[in-house]
Amino acid sequence: MSTPVDASAFSKDNPFPALLTENRTLTQLGSAKETRHFVVSLAGSGLHYKAGDSLGVFPSNRAEEVAEIIHRLGATGEELVSPQALKLPAPLPLREVLTHKVALAGPPRRIIETLAAKATASEEKEKLTALLAPEAKEALVAFLDDREFVDLLAEFPSAKLTPQEFVDHQRRLMPRLYSIASSSRVYPHEIHLTVAVVRYQTNGRERAGVCSTFLADRALVGSTPAPVFVSNSHFGPPEDGAKDCIMIGPGTGIAPFRAFLQDRVATGAAGRNWLFFGDQKRATDFLYEEEWQNYLAKGQLARLDTAFSRDQATKIYVQDRMRENAAELWQWLQGGASFFVCGDAKRMAKDVDLALHEIIAAQGNLTPVAAADYVKQLKKDKRYQRDVY
Ligand SMILES: Cc1cc2nc3c(=O)[nH]c(=O)nc-3n(C[C@H](O)[C@H](O)[C@H](O)COP(=O)(O)OP(=O)(O)OC[C@H]3O[C@@H](n4cnc5c(N)ncnc54)[C@H](O)[C@@H]3O)c2cc1C
Ligand SMILES: NC(=O)c1ccc[n+]([C@@H]2O[C@H](COP(=O)([O-])OP(=O)(O)OC[C@H]3O[C@@H](n4cnc5c(N)ncnc54)[C@H](OP(=O)(O)O)[C@@H]3O)[C@@H](O)[C@H]2O)c1
Repeated sequence: MSTPVDASAFSKDNPFPALLTENRTLTQLGSAKETRHFVVSLAGSGLHYKAGDSLGVFPSNRAEEVAEIIHRLGATGEELVSPQALKLPAPLPLREVLTHKVALAGPPRRIIETLAAKATASEEKEKLTALLAPEAKEALVAFLDDREFVDLLAEFPSAKLTPQEFVDHQRRLMPRLYSIASSSRVYPHEIHLTVAVVRYQTNGRERAGVCSTFLADRALVGSTPAPVFVSNSHFGPPEDGAKDCIMIGPGTGIAPFRAFLQDRVATGAAGRNWLFFGDQKRATDFLYEEEWQNYLAKGQLARLDTAFSRDQATKIYVQDRMRENAAELWQWLQGGASFFVCGDAKRMAKDVDLALHEIIAAQGNLTPVAAADYVKQLKKDKRYQRDVY
């Protein structure tokens, strides 16, 4: 169904400086989360995308954190540096490197060794040496988990790392991917994203996920460009519009299914759509509720099953809704439906996979081995696809 398109001059190696045209919260006041809807303009980029693709975003770091690091290094920010990990063609000013080129989180064990070798204050040296002892392996991991580079400069000032020594311990700042939440058949010149903004505290400091807060706080609508690229994916709605779709998308996992639905409605796909959505609370976390209700009212969404995990004493998850509807789910699969999963990889995708196996075994009266074969065949036929992170 995808139409051949002209290649854009923009790619991961040459990202397009895109402007945001919209940045709004999807979660309501009182939610434990901050999930946002972004609209990224593709105007002038020549970029094309299809439902199921992701958008890569190159973030930059927070100016306050960069300023604190420069201050703690006793530097001005103008010093020329060339981080070992980057292999730059020519050195760049420290401020530019810290803002755009290196990650400020995830300090490695190696920096503790450098600090231990260079610390001149005895209490600092003792603490660092103790952390490097063979019996302190777990303590060191926990210590580093709780800290970013700036914490180490604050805690061990006597080591007086030079700007070059400091950046030699840093990794390249990587782009982040986001599932595209719009269809290019409806929005050819823009891309929609559904992003959970990462904010938390460790070691008494407020932390900010680099890219989600770059989009939320620093890429100002209409003025500060965000470097982006389209990352093509094999994930996508069935080529044959007559086929049914079962979509499991809790939390931000809903994003690509908003694109799938827009796409299938735009092409007049005759296949039925069944969406499972879950999040913490119905009152505050029902992302895009109105849109789903509209699709339901028009019959474009055949079924919507929701699982709001924290609206009752016992957690209810999307896989519980799948189990409650096992017979119908089995009928859809037997009728040729495709099964899609998007969202959390660590727990959700595994538990949904287990539920799928159990439903197939019970409904199809199959042994666990035969059910696993059935799932394998679904995957082979590209009828079981996942976009999990
Ligand atoms: C194919 C793909 C599609 C994706 N689609 C989406 C999408 O549609 N929407 C979306 O929101 N995300 C999506 N993601 C995830 C996204 O790419 C980023 O990983 C996410 O936004 C976090 O990036 P960040 O730079 O804001 O945070 P980072 O700076 O990378 O920080 C995240 C890290 O912070 C730490 N952390 C987070 N919370 C806590 C806590 N409470 N306590 C201690 N440590 C913590 C963890 O180590 C975590 O790994 C997708 C990922 C992939 C691979
Ligand atoms: N550290 C935090 O405080 C925090 C908070 C939110 C999101 N996150 C992270 O941010 C990312 C994006 O989050 P998100 O907005 O997409 O939502 P999410 O955290 O994936 O949650 C969406 C829904 O899935 C539920 N869930 C939790 N475990 C599950 C499982 N095993 N099976 C099925 N459903 C399950 C959640 O319930 P419950 O949460 O009620 O269990 C919630 O109702 C995720 O990677 C997540 O880990 C972190």
